[in-house]
Amino acid sequence: MSLLWTYHQQGSHLLLQSSLSNILRSIVTTSVHTRARQSPYVGTKDVQRTAVPDSKVSWKVNWPDYKATEYTASKVLKNPPWADDPDAKKIKSFNEFDGKIDRRSFMGEYEIDDKTNRPRNPAGRTGLSGRGLLGHWGPNHAADPVVTRWAKDQSNLKEKVLEIVLINRKDNNHLALPGGMIDEGENAFVAAKREFLEEAMNSNDDAVVEQIDKLFENADSIYKDYVDDPRNTDNAWMESEAIDAHDETGELTKDLRLEAGDDAAKVKWVQLDRVHNLYASHESMVRIAVKKHGAYEYWHDNQHSSETTDDTNNK
Ligand code: BGC
Repeated sequence: MSLLWTYHQQGSHLLLQSSLSNILRSIVTTSVHTRARQSPYVGTKDVQRTAVPDSKVSWKVNWPDYKATEYTASKVLKNPPWADDPDAKKIKSFNEFDGKIDRRSFMGEYEIDDKTNRPRNPAGRTGLSGRGLLGHWGPNHAADPVVTRWAKDQSNLKEKVLEIVLINRKDNNHLALPGGMIDEGENAFVAAKREFLEEAMNSNDDAVVEQIDKLFENADSIYKDYVDDPRNTDNAWMESEAIDAHDETGELTKDLRLEAGDDAAKVKWVQLDRVHNLYASHESMVRIAVKKHGAYEYWHDNQHSSETTDDTNNK
């Protein structure tokens, strides 16, 4: 089922990343999606999903009476530039990349309903049909930049600790990677870089863009997968790709002036010496980067911090 590493395959880290990613994928995806079954539907007070028990999430389980609640947010139905036509029959390129929008899924080829031409969520039933808050029928792709370097003071540490650029999201104050949706015509590398500039640098100055270009020069795609996101529906779902930009010597980031912008309320370097409560699938992405760089695997110790830790150095 996995179509990980179908594109952007590059460099000698490929095998390592692929096996790490597969291990994490099996940990993450042996359980059924849960956020994608929460009620009320995110952003609403009264949209209740049809209750789907764990045992009936899979489409392979016969459930002739299954009837999902139909819901698409009015702002999506208004057909803004980032959204598809309300009628899925108008979309001719499911499971394809049409040159602008990538409608392929990291989960493999997804099914399309004969009558409605609506795609079917490959992770199973969610209790909601339509698109909810999502613009595209089928997969909606996001990109997440994982920008790391070695923590400066390693003197009291037994193993090498990484630090990473994280934001506090404006919408829910969650600690998160500074990621976002992939726009038309972009790939994940371009989108991750743009989002980093918007949310972590709040700048478009030539000198800053050049600095970030350098930082992402040797960036790698380390994670591509379905995301158990509360916006998901039976016909529209989130998938995300994480782009790892690691500054081995610290030279490329030493003059970086972080400034929160766009959807970010705060931005900071955070030490990866304990588990932080990260948004969506970001913890899985960060762990892959930690393993890839041979850093301290903080999650084996049972320390857990709240999301607004005080040992973060705001810069
Ligand atoms: C966020 C990404 C996240 C994705 C899936 C997007 O809206 O910006 O950071 O990975 O949703 O939850």
